[in-house]
Amino acid sequence: MISDLLNWFDKNQRNLPWRHTKDPYAIWVSEVMLQQTQVATVIPYWLKWMERFPNVRALAEADEQSVLASWQGLGYYRRCRMLQAGAKHVIQSGIPDGVEGWLLVPGVGRYTAGAIASIAQGMSEPLVDGNVGRVYSRLRGDDSNYEQLLKNAWVWAAKQVPTERPGDWNQALMELGATVCTPTKPDCGNCPVASHCVARLTNRTTILPTPKERAQPRRLQETLLVLLHEGKIALQIAPAGGWWESMWTLPKFESQLSLESMFPEFWIENLGTFKYSVTQHRIEASVVLIRLTEPLIDWQFFTPNEVNQLPIPSPHRKALKHLQIHGIC
Ligand code: ADE
Repeated sequence: MISDLLNWFDKNQRNLPWRHTKDPYAIWVSEVMLQQTQVATVIPYWLKWMERFPNVRALAEADEQSVLASWQGLGYYRRCRMLQAGAKHVIQSGIPDGVEGWLLVPGVGRYTAGAIASIAQGMSEPLVDGNVGRVYSRLRGDDSNYEQLLKNAWVWAAKQVPTERPGDWNQALMELGATVCTPTKPDCGNCPVASHCVARLTNRTTILPTPKERAQPRRLQETLLVLLHEGKIALQIAPAGGWWESMWTLPKFESQLSLESMFPEFWIENLGTFKYSVTQHRIEASVVLIRLTEPLIDWQFFTPNEVNQLPIPSPHRKALKHLQIHGIC
């Protein structure tokens, strides 16, 4: 089975820019970006990132705001802050040589450690992500619940990973999951290991793996304020521990009081509403414009050009688009 999959990978792998390097830092960056983000989205970000922060030291020494700005649009910004924290650790203690060392790096979990050790450092170490979990479940006909399935998949992956080309083997498993053994319509006719697949033999490809129980979505409403003073927009850095930590955000109106009582002397305009999701939250945001005659203390004001350079979460950027839609600035 190992050679079937490796031969298939040799012929069918996607040409991805991080597959042309063995630099552990470059692989590390790609793997962190690829967590929760599609390959097609990651490619331009990775290329730009590697120009901007070509090595661990460049990232460790960069200003946090410029690092966040380079991540802007990829979402899940905690990954980005942890990547920089990890880079600082590596500058202190050196590039780890193996999974145990990588696991000591902030932000590096079992998956990322396995990926860097196997792909960049040629070590025979397993990895399991969602794709590998699904491939394993079907190949072995394992209908365990998601948590148990991942545990079983790690045990299986550790037994499978070869000493020759372990990085290609791991990437081949992920590639198979991403391109052939897909969640809803697996393309078994083009699968190099179909003859080994228990799900195929027992007609269960569409019901395996057992679906994850989803958290109930929580609905929230919020009002995002665009406070405008002499063509400049008020932003603040989101505090630690909440959403968008360290990024620049619009003020959010959450008080029980009405907006009119908070800003009695100002003209308040509704610019529109839009919806977005963060983890299991489904949020309906209203965007409200308030034209100030005085700047407010505690807020920093930026011109639209300056705003474009700052790390701003995409829902807040969407809110700011309403200014253009209404021809305000
Ligand atoms: N998904 C995340 N990392 C990957 C890799 N190196 N190859 C294929 N799919 C992936």
